[in-house]
Amino acid sequence: MNHFLDIHKTSPADLRQMIDNAHAMKQARKGQPKGTADTAQPLAGQMVALIFEKPSTRTRVSFDVGVRQLGGQTMVLSGSDMQLGHGETIADTARVLSRYVDLIMIRTFEEETLLEMAEYASVPVINGLTNRTHPCQIMADIVTFEEHRGPITGKKVVWTGDGNNVCASFLHAAGQFGFDFTFTGPAPLDPEREWIDFARAQGVNVEVERDPIKAVAGADLIVTDTWVSMHDPESAKERRHNQLRPYQVNEELMRHANPDALFMHCLPAHRNDEATSEIMDGPHSVVFDEAENRLHAQKAILQWCLGK
Ligand code: CP
Repeated sequence: MNHFLDIHKTSPADLRQMIDNAHAMKQARKGQPKGTADTAQPLAGQMVALIFEKPSTRTRVSFDVGVRQLGGQTMVLSGSDMQLGHGETIADTARVLSRYVDLIMIRTFEEETLLEMAEYASVPVINGLTNRTHPCQIMADIVTFEEHRGPITGKKVVWTGDGNNVCASFLHAAGQFGFDFTFTGPAPLDPEREWIDFARAQGVNVEVERDPIKAVAGADLIVTDTWVSMHDPESAKERRHNQLRPYQVNEELMRHANPDALFMHCLPAHRNDEATSEIMDGPHSVVFDEAENRLHAQKAILQWCLGK
């Protein structure tokens, strides 16, 4: 059974097949109204549960629309409205849902919840974000980079700011797709050592550079994310803002990257914190393509999980 739990747990060949399928499906839908079905209906007769224990706009809507375009049906479930949020075990929830649905996508806090869901479910499980990783986002980001600049293999990606769950999945992708990765941010917010070691073990160059100007030299892509993640305490906000202000993506920083460097942000953004509006809306930015590509990338993930 194909669970899509993380990029470093999925083979490079399978990841490449999903990315190529996402490109092809996006191309095939060009000009079609969003509510129309795809010509192929690989999810016909399939029911997909979308569980959210955290807020979401992009993940929720793109999975819902994607399943429908592929011919399947969805149910969107809030963790707090389920017995899962009131003491029922994850294992029992997984076993029960597997009797009703053909696939489970879950956005949750602890990675252990995702892993337990996958262990006890008899249907595929997709990671829609945990505190540690966000693989669906980075699959969309790979699609986005490649549609603008061609193969990402051998390119230089720079992450600036908090070494959070999205950064973690970018490090996994660096290893699996073969691109160099530089993290620039304050030491207390470094990505987990385990993820840096994973990427390096695949033979790619991973650097940690405290000076953001030096870090972006030669960058083909600059990526950032919100300074305070959904699972961070509100009390961390002021400290985070002070620590991260030097790592804001603005026109001055962008001038030190390659002239055709792209800018990405998975959204939602806090404009003029982690990135200025000039950058968000400027010529380097592909942030709304990234948002759209969640749809195409996840349709490819869904098909891969269901062996379609
Ligand atoms: N980028 C992302 O996952 O967006 P949502 O939180 O809106 O799903």
